[in-house]
Amino acid sequence: MMEVTAVQGDITRQDVDAVVNAANNAMRGGGGVDGAIHRAGGPAILEDCVRRFPAGLATGDAGWTTAGDLPAQWVIHVVGPNRNAGETDRALLLSCYSRALAVADELGAGSVAFPLVSAGVYGWPKDDAIACALEVFRSATTSVTEARIVAFDAATYELVRAALG
Ligand code: AR6
Repeated sequence: MMEVTAVQGDITRQDVDAVVNAANNAMRGGGGVDGAIHRAGGPAILEDCVRRFPAGLATGDAGWTTAGDLPAQWVIHVVGPNRNAGETDRALLLSCYSRALAVADELGAGSVAFPLVSAGVYGWPKDDAIACALEVFRSATTSVTEARIVAFDAATYELVRAALG
């Protein structure tokens, strides 16, 4: 049975087996969580992205790299739908979470920290971004024992706490 937890903080500081990155299709870094993970984890992450994902990653899909200097062992990169570019298909956001859990299972990662994918630069409403994460977590068949939602700011953390009940 997977436990769903919530913390307020920086995803790069989480002591978990794998952290999920809200990447883009190119997988060559960016802002937000992506920028923070590449900065904190060092150049090994980008090198691994280039080596393992020469053509990048499709929206809704997930793939792993080393976590470089992060406390975690792996980064699981996902690409959420960019609502600001007209990508409104919720199934793609659900897919990010289910594919991330599937990759975690392949890796044998027991604890996984998740940001709210698409809820920043990509413009997905926070409430529904949280609902998507919980929908997948609550129905998932996985060996992951902890899915930790990492909210960056206090207001988002309160929304996650309320949704967790
Ligand atoms: N730890 C935890 N959460 C964070 C952190 C952090 N260090 N930094 C930001 N957040 P975003 P997206 C929150 O924009 O919407 C990048 O340029 C943030 O407040 O990181 O999927 C990529 O390269 C928000 O709630 O991801 C892509 O081009 C959530 O994490 C694009 O942005 C996600 O915000 C992806 O946009």
